[in-house]
Amino acid sequence: MAIKKIGVLGAGAMGSGIAQVAAQSGLQVVLVDLEQRFVDRGVQTMLKNWDKDVSKGKISAEDKARFVGNLTTSTQNIDLKDCELVIEVVVENLDVKKRVFAELNDICPPRTVLATNTSGFSITEIAAASGRPDRVVGMHFFNPVPVMRLVEVIPGTETSDETVALAMEVCQIIGKTAIKAKEAPGFIVNRLLVPYLNDACHALQEGVASAEDIDQAMKLGANMPIGPLALCDLVGNDVLLMVAEYFYKEFGDPKFRPSLALKQKVRAGHFGVKTGKGFFDYTR
Ligand code: 3HC
Repeated sequence: MAIKKIGVLGAGAMGSGIAQVAAQSGLQVVLVDLEQRFVDRGVQTMLKNWDKDVSKGKISAEDKARFVGNLTTSTQNIDLKDCELVIEVVVENLDVKKRVFAELNDICPPRTVLATNTSGFSITEIAAASGRPDRVVGMHFFNPVPVMRLVEVIPGTETSDETVALAMEVCQIIGKTAIKAKEAPGFIVNRLLVPYLNDACHALQEGVASAEDIDQAMKLGANMPIGPLALCDLVGNDVLLMVAEYFYKEFGDPKFRPSLALKQKVRAGHFGVKTGKGFFDYTR
């Protein structure tokens, strides 16, 4: 199927990043969120990124105008009705995602593929709630989406080959490398990355070193582009805690036990970059 129009449901950091790379690649993009202020914030992020690219000479002003022209926005899910693919990027909560997929099933024609950007929940469970399990697939992007090259493509147990092929094709169109992963909590990257980030929180809790020193150690000693605690803040401590709790429950393995330091950041509302505070302060 020739893909022309995709929907992105959720205009947060991940949703706006996906909408940005899709609009850049020439696809028509409908970006939807619950409230106009969320949509506006997502669009502002994209415009800021494109302005930066214009000033660096990476794209022209005409390119930017073309990208903007590929984008429409809405606060009504019904406006996703004529998309060939809808990528769900709402809050990382399984019940919410299931409700959203049931609603999208009512709105979209049977041919529309519904993808979830879940960080690790069961695609099969989300697909079962959709009423069209053969047309549901995981498409897991990485933050910041315009920079990170990977998309994990995850079929549920009933996802058709045609649906997987469409997801892989869209990744190619938007310039990402797709890697297919079997359904298992956290797929590939988060299964390995989340325990590492959670362990950095345990180390902080145990007083092994300061947050600054833990991060500096991993940058200098393991060549990480960013320290683990700064990465927690970038991903969002709230998202990370939900994923860690899900892993702990699913695997039943104490190695996934969420750190108290992580829980306390979330309890205090210090979700990281998006709230201005996390393990580090972003307000200064
Ligand atoms: N949006 C768009 N572009 C961005 C950006 C953003 N949010 N952040 C950085 N960039 C661009 C910059 O403009 C710059 O572009 P240029 O090369 O054209 O000048 C380039 O990225 C490098 O940026 P900086 O020089 O400012 O900073 P760094 O060299 O430190 O790179 C980084 C920033 C790419 C974010 C780097 O720190 C990094 O790779 N961090 C690790 C990110 C990571 O691991 N992400 C995965 C998280 S896990 C996840 O998302 C899954 C989820 O399910 C939990």
